[in-house]
Amino acid sequence: MKSSPKQKIIEALKDQQAIFGDDLFEEKANLKKSKTSAFEMETTSREDSSRRIAIVKEPVTKSLASKNAVKGDWEKSQSLDKLNSLICNCTNCVLHKGRNKFVFGSGNPNADVMVIGEGPGAEEDKQGLPFVGRAGQLLTDILKAIKFSREEVFIGNIVKCRPPDNRTPLPEEMETCIPYLAKQIELIKPKLILCLGLTAAKGLLKKKDSLTSLRGQVFEYEGIKTMVTFHPAALLRNPNWKKDCWVDVQKFRKLYDEMVA
Ligand code: URA
Repeated sequence: MKSSPKQKIIEALKDQQAIFGDDLFEEKANLKKSKTSAFEMETTSREDSSRRIAIVKEPVTKSLASKNAVKGDWEKSQSLDKLNSLICNCTNCVLHKGRNKFVFGSGNPNADVMVIGEGPGAEEDKQGLPFVGRAGQLLTDILKAIKFSREEVFIGNIVKCRPPDNRTPLPEEMETCIPYLAKQIELIKPKLILCLGLTAAKGLLKKKDSLTSLRGQVFEYEGIKTMVTFHPAALLRNPNWKKDCWVDVQKFRKLYDEMVA
């Protein structure tokens, strides 16, 4: 589906905000600083590639089970299928009102690698599957480039119902839905997680930094090594970021190889 000019502007601004952080959008933003960071983005991203992988240990607590989370039998699920059957008719946030299909996620229930996006788009909402639109095709290609097939990983999202007009999910929608993702992670027990874009990073790692500062680092979510790279939809809009994504995913693959060796 084609974006309207207004949507395109919103998406371009979202991309810039993800890359450079909120400073760019704050009233008192220091112009000099934001100019520098635009320049720095180019140089640091190259430096990142040679930087040794440093693991940032974060005490990511059970805070994901936030105040908005609705308790229920789903918490006791012993399998993904059971979990899906218990949450697929969720009405805990407003996003269910526009839902065509609940997008639980798909892939290997015993995956070593989980890939986490933001939330379903139009095509995903239609099919009930994650990353099946244009961004999904690019994700498949990115995975293939680092020798993973879609079938061997598990692909999920921060929110499981499509936000209207593909807007970014609101904090309360994320807080409400993330416990489902936390439960998926608990059941799958991946060795590694890859967050696609700032919303996924913010949601899972509770990070407020820009994408530029999160890329290239290895965080821990509940003891699981987690990295952050660009969202494929942002890469479709800004193909010049693909080379930096390539650097990130190669690092991700290297980390995986070291872990399974
Ligand atoms: N974008 C996402 O973040 N998730 C999807 O499932 C599809 C597009």
